[in-house]
Amino acid sequence: MTDKHTNIILVGLMGAGKTTVGKLLARHLDKCFYDSDHELVRRNGVTIPVIFEVEGEAGFRRREEAVIDELSSLDNVVLATGGGAVLSAQTRALLKSRGTVVYLRGTVEELWQRTRHDRNRPLLQTADPKARLRELYTQRDPLYREVANVVIDTSRQNVNTLVRQLEQKLA
Ligand code: S3P
Repeated sequence: MTDKHTNIILVGLMGAGKTTVGKLLARHLDKCFYDSDHELVRRNGVTIPVIFEVEGEAGFRRREEAVIDELSSLDNVVLATGGGAVLSAQTRALLKSRGTVVYLRGTVEELWQRTRHDRNRPLLQTADPKARLRELYTQRDPLYREVANVVIDTSRQNVNTLVRQLEQKLA
């Protein structure tokens, strides 16, 4: 399904393991790894919560769309996108046209275990972050599915197994 020049784009909710899996996958496939959140922080010199605070979610999304457009236009990359990247129909169409899209699909419980102590995700800074995560899951699961060429169930799998599975599916 993929060759040396094809991009692989990882989508999924916060805590799905896009960055961890993406880094290892890129190493295995000899591709460059990028993470859209990391690029936003690096370029703007501020954290994601600060971008949300100063510009609101809408401002963050504008920056996110622009950086995803730029990074996905490169050749031979693995790109981990932020969990909300699929909210825009335009970005969904863009992702589909720029590479093989992989949805890392975990259960709400697993996503919660991985994000529960994290203060760096503004959307989860609510009175009931687990309920919020469940809500986001319900809203976004159809969008991740719509955009994905490959869906990988991450339940109870370690990163090495996931990457091996992905390599097989992408071969
Ligand atoms: C977001 C997910 C985060 C980050 C921002 C918004 C979301 O990325 O982009 O906090 O809307 O789900 P990760 O999925 O890498 O945590």
